[in-house]
Amino acid sequence: MDKDSPILLFDSGIGGLTVLSALRERLPNAPVIYAADLAGLPYGTKTEAQIAARVAGLLGRMSERYKPRLVCIACNTASTIALGMVREVLEVPIVGTVPAIKPAASVTRSGTIGLLGTEATIRQAYVDNLEAEFASDKRLLRFAAPGLVEAAEAKLRGYTPSPDTIRAAAEGLKALPGGDEIDTVVLACTHFPLLEEELAEHFAPGTRFVHGADGIARRIAHLTDGQEFPSGPSSRFVATGDVQSAQALLPYLKTHGFSEVEAF
Ligand code: DGL
Repeated sequence: MDKDSPILLFDSGIGGLTVLSALRERLPNAPVIYAADLAGLPYGTKTEAQIAARVAGLLGRMSERYKPRLVCIACNTASTIALGMVREVLEVPIVGTVPAIKPAASVTRSGTIGLLGTEATIRQAYVDNLEAEFASDKRLLRFAAPGLVEAAEAKLRGYTPSPDTIRAAAEGLKALPGGDEIDTVVLACTHFPLLEEELAEHFAPGTRFVHGADGIARRIAHLTDGQEFPSGPSSRFVATGDVQSAQALLPYLKTHGFSEVEAF
């Protein structure tokens, strides 16, 4: 294994940075290429066929170019739809990001779990299976909050995320039958932890917000255990689409160790 071979973190946008933060705590020197498919953002409103074709195609091309030691699909929408397919076509280890229903089921006291995700994620059989396996004795209420993707993207570009969008997501979830019993909320989109503070204002104090970033980082650390890394961190941010408009992300990206936005 070449010690400079990167870990490729892939998302439709900047949501996967929540996974990167957790990864840096475990593997501070891992070379990371963060790839944002800004030309395809948002995934959550696309069809399964569109998402699967796009993700498999891009990850194939990115793997050829960057020769990663591991690929992490840091996106619930892409993972719940395309993980199996991508694993079949790429030879490197692939780590997916799927809704954190298992940890949520272990912490809920009321037995009612809310789940916020994209439209595409909440309708996936993958989520039905996680529910059946880990939360069959709980009530899982799913709500699609596509507006939060845009709100998170805006926040990282330095804008105030729309309070109406955040309120609509929280109130929409709570308004589902049984929603007043929710004590645990699964943030089933990697963009949403970026808005946890804003969302928390709309839930009862003590409501727990659960997402998979730390579990994913743990899994990546396990799969790369014993591998060599360079002596200092290195991170590259690449994006599809209009790289010029992505420059607005730079001040935030610099806080994560990126110095520029490169075109893929
Ligand atoms: N960050 C992605 C996820 O975890 C979705 C955002 C999008 O709709 O593109 O689901």
